[in-house]
Amino acid sequence: MVEEARGTEDVEQRVAALLERMSLEEKIGQMSLVNAGDSYIHDDLAEGLRAGRVGGVLNEVDAGTVNELQRIAVQESRLGIPLLIGRDVIHGFKTVMPIPLGQAATWNPDLVMQGARVAACEAASHGVNWTFAPMIDVCRDPRWGRIAECLGEDPHLTSVLGVAMLRGFQGPDLGRPDAIAACAKHFAGYGAVESGRDYAAANVPENELRNVHLRPFRAAADAGVATLMTSFSEVDGVPATANERLVRRILKDEWAFGGFVVSDWDSVRQLCIHGLTADDRESSREAVTAGVDMEMHGDAYTVHLPQLVRSGEIDERLVDDAVRRILRLKFQLGLFERPYADPADSHPIASEASLATARQAALQSVVLLTNEHRVLPLSRESLRSLAVIGPLADAADEQLGTWVFDGDAGLSVTPLQAIRELAAGRFEVHYLRAMETSRSRDTSAFGEAVALAGQCDATVLFLGEEAILSGEAHCRADISLPGAQAQLVARVREAGKPVVAVILAGRPLTLTDIVDRVDAVLYAWHPGTMGGPAITDLLFGIKSPSGKLPVSFPRMVGQIPIYYSHKNTGKPPTPDSVVHIDDIDPKAQQLSLGMTAFHLDAGYTPLFAFGHGLSYTSFEYTGIRVSSEQIRLGQSFHVHAELRNTGAVAADEVVQLYVRDLVGNVTRPVRELKGFRRVHLDPGQQVVVDFELHTDDLAFYGRDMRLMVEPGEFQAWIGGSSETGLCCAFRVLPPV
Ligand code: NOJ
Repeated sequence: MVEEARGTEDVEQRVAALLERMSLEEKIGQMSLVNAGDSYIHDDLAEGLRAGRVGGVLNEVDAGTVNELQRIAVQESRLGIPLLIGRDVIHGFKTVMPIPLGQAATWNPDLVMQGARVAACEAASHGVNWTFAPMIDVCRDPRWGRIAECLGEDPHLTSVLGVAMLRGFQGPDLGRPDAIAACAKHFAGYGAVESGRDYAAANVPENELRNVHLRPFRAAADAGVATLMTSFSEVDGVPATANERLVRRILKDEWAFGGFVVSDWDSVRQLCIHGLTADDRESSREAVTAGVDMEMHGDAYTVHLPQLVRSGEIDERLVDDAVRRILRLKFQLGLFERPYADPADSHPIASEASLATARQAALQSVVLLTNEHRVLPLSRESLRSLAVIGPLADAADEQLGTWVFDGDAGLSVTPLQAIRELAAGRFEVHYLRAMETSRSRDTSAFGEAVALAGQCDATVLFLGEEAILSGEAHCRADISLPGAQAQLVARVREAGKPVVAVILAGRPLTLTDIVDRVDAVLYAWHPGTMGGPAITDLLFGIKSPSGKLPVSFPRMVGQIPIYYSHKNTGKPPTPDSVVHIDDIDPKAQQLSLGMTAFHLDAGYTPLFAFGHGLSYTSFEYTGIRVSSEQIRLGQSFHVHAELRNTGAVAADEVVQLYVRDLVGNVTRPVRELKGFRRVHLDPGQQVVVDFELHTDDLAFYGRDMRLMVEPGEFQAWIGGSSETGLCCAFRVLPPV
């Protein structure tokens, strides 16, 4: 502790001493993040480095070139300040973990942390010292392509997993050669862009912003995330990159965030395009005033800030504050002592241990959505032949998912490869791609698919979306299976044999028409490098599925946003109040149809609820108890229940704790996730799962935007999803 304090003091002194020696142009240079890449250093860039006009470079990952960039900055510039080297290392570097949304389906913070550690070690070996992750935008709209990169719809799950991920990147000490600085993004409200269309406006009232969207960022700031990135979108009329209320007042003043804030790609100059500013000069003034410390790709700061400061329009103290934050990180990363990637520190790429982590992450991310007829697991012993059909059975690139600039598809083990390996000498595997891509409309191979399915004992269809259909700017208004895939399902079913669908996708898809046509659905997201072996282990029961949905699956697009922690409304629907459009009596009067909050054509429930996920065993929950039914404000308490594996196989269960605050200063959600734990149980084994809560965990922002815990009545549930569970009640009493 004492040493840590001395270290911090030392860094602060070094920052102050360096700042003292810097010219205004050199300070502003630190606030500039410049794009590079292709293992080549352009003359302009080299010149900028020598003149101290560059604080960081992004997108160069060739270790030799990175070292040369650092050498020019360190040896040929007046002050010798090393560079931040940034890269989008989102869910892996060479070894790719499942997409973040898939990782969220593991509900396993340790595993998420290990995955980020693997990524950090591999990236640091290439000279990268800063990643633009984790993305902790809460998203309730699967049309948005970037849902793939986020950790789901829930602020608590996102907070816990986001903190785990940033800890994995940053390691126990930022000064270690294998640590890279993390960047929580995109601050804030980006997950709520209108109609799930990327870059669109996000209209989020402040109360919801604070109770939902800001929570993971607060958690990341408190956990010591090194940097934050503003979002491309506007919130409440003001683009995030110029949003003083968000960045300076809430993040820096209210939360006392000590790291620095970077804009998104060119988002300072885009303030003009948004229609907030008239020119780049005004944009740079707005962004610096708002508290954006570094401009990513764009020259508004370098061109205009010197004059803005000299004219007195920007107080130089704002620039000093920004530069202090940036230099602080460079010292914390140990870049002044160790600016170069050293082969001696290099981490082996795709080591056995890294691949094992990727496999485990993929395994725990897959969600068994349905298994109505218990066709899963397939039997290795009795199966004689298996048809493997579909565009994603053997697509090494596609299984990696979006945002994998450096991912090596050559390392991927596809489902087809893994199934063939398992089958060798046991049963026959017959493969038909049937569609060129997931979007193909050509049905000419479907006859062959039906014949193949008819010849084999069972069929596994590998369907879904190619990687390009999700991620930044890749949004969809129709989120059903693209192309002719639904027809392929219908045709293969004609063969009359068991059919399992394995879906690889970057978002929840609307599967309403599919689930009843197949015997089981395994949802594998884009599972990364080791997706094939993980899926195969699950198909054949070598492991039991244990992923749980981090996001609700709508029945149809018109239900969006649909999420479990919605408000009750004054007219909550019940199964009895719902009427279906097909059942309306022609003589029905306007006021006779239920009069509650539902859709005539979709009801009010999702197809699959947040937290849902089946297993090959069965679990029984009993005996929920709260340690005291009367809890004094300011105290801790426990909620626990017994969990028993009542089936025949060993498996993990993700136990979930939800709470409802029955009466609030502002209305509270019908359920809120407050805790979760992954437990492993052998057949017949029983454990007590105990959650400790503090009344602070019940806090929310009220009407005046202050955090509050109100005395009153609460309910708690412990169970295996957001729509099930045992319930108990407790009361929070005012302080004595
Ligand atoms: C734009 C994206 O919004 C952001 O997430 C990413 O980190 C930057 N580009 C850098 O590539």
